[in-house]
Amino acid sequence: MARRNKITVVGAGNVGATAAHWIAAKELADVVLVDIVEGTPQGKSLDLAQAAPIDGFDVNLKGANSYEDTKDSDVVIITAGLPRKPGMSRDDLLKTNADIVGKVTDEVAKHSPNAYLIIVSNPLDAMAQVAFKRSGFPKNRVMGMAGVLDSARMRCFLAEALNVSVENVTAFVLGGHGDTMVPLPRYSTCAGIPVTELLPKEQLDAIITRTANGGAEIVGLLKTGSAYYAPSLGAVEMAEAILKDKKKILPCAVYLEGEYGINNLFVGVPCKLGRNGVEQIIEISLTNEERSALQKSAGAVQELIDVLAI
Ligand code: NAI
Ligand code: 2OP
Repeated sequence: MARRNKITVVGAGNVGATAAHWIAAKELADVVLVDIVEGTPQGKSLDLAQAAPIDGFDVNLKGANSYEDTKDSDVVIITAGLPRKPGMSRDDLLKTNADIVGKVTDEVAKHSPNAYLIIVSNPLDAMAQVAFKRSGFPKNRVMGMAGVLDSARMRCFLAEALNVSVENVTAFVLGGHGDTMVPLPRYSTCAGIPVTELLPKEQLDAIITRTANGGAEIVGLLKTGSAYYAPSLGAVEMAEAILKDKKKILPCAVYLEGEYGINNLFVGVPCKLGRNGVEQIIEISLTNEERSALQKSAGAVQELIDVLAI
C-alpha cells in the first residue's frame, strides 16, 4: 500500500514548529517533531493535529524526544540549536551548535539512512558541512536552507519598491548566510525585466544592504528570538521540490567541488532540486566584482570550518 511521505523536523522551537505547521497545512507529508525538551514536541504536535479538522488537512503528526518514530523519514529538516547567550563568543556558539547538529545527524542517519537532509541551524553553511561529514550521505542528499530565505527577503523589498505583486519578482542571492552574502540585482527580475532597468542604483543598493541585514533587522524587532515564518517556509519549499520531483531551481547551500572556483565547502548557489535531491548545480556567469564577492563570502565560511577542523 502506498504510504504518505514522512518528514522529521528536529528542533520544536520557532522554526521547527512553524515548519511542521506549513507541512501539515500543505498536506505534504506526515510529520514527526523531535526536541530534547520533554512535552514541547508532543504538545505542539497535538495542538497542530487539533487544527486539522478546522482546516481539513489529513496528515499524522507526532511529537517525540527520541528517534524511534522518525524511522525511514524521506526528508529530515534540522533546526536544533541554541541562540547566542550573553558572554558566549561566536566561536563558542559555533562549537556548541556543531556538537548539537553532529549528534542529531548521528541519530537521523541511523534511523533514516535514505533521507534527504535540509539543515537550517546556524551558522548555516558550517552546520550543513557538519551534517554532511557526520552523516556520510552523498552530497546530493545534504543541503542547507538560507538562499531561499535571503532571496525571498530581497523579492519582498523589490516588490514593495516597484509596487507590484511578489509573484512578478524573482531574485538571486548567492554565498554564505551572513553579512557577506551576495545579492545579484543583475539576475533579479520583475516580469522578466532586470530590476537594474527599473530602479535607480541607490535604491537597489539600499535593498541589497537591507537584504544582507535581513536576519538582524528581525532580531532587532523581536528582541527575544529570530525570524521563523519565512525561514521555515524556505525549508518546506525545498522539501516540497524534492518530494514532488519539481526540478525547481532554488538557491541552496551545497557542497562545492570546484564549481565557482570553490572547493570542499558548503556555500549558497543555484541548484535544481528534484526526487534525487540536488540534481544539478547551476553555474551562472559572474562579473569579476560578483565573483570576488562570492570568494570573500566563501572565505568567511572557510574560517568557521577551520575553527571546527572538519
Ligand atoms: P528556537 O530556540 O526557538 O528552537 C531551537 C530548538 O532546538 C529548541 O526547542 C531546543 O530545545 C531544540 N534543541 C536544542 N538542542 C537539541 C537537540 N540536541 N536535539 C533536538 N532539539 C534540540 O530557535 P529557532 O528560532 O527555531 O531557530 C533554530 C535554528 O535555526 C537557530 O540555529 C537559528 O539561528 C537558525 N535559523 C536559521 C535560518 C537560516 O536561514 N538558515 C533562519 C532562522 C533561524
Ligand atoms: C535569519 O536570517 C537568524 O539566520 C536567521 O533570520
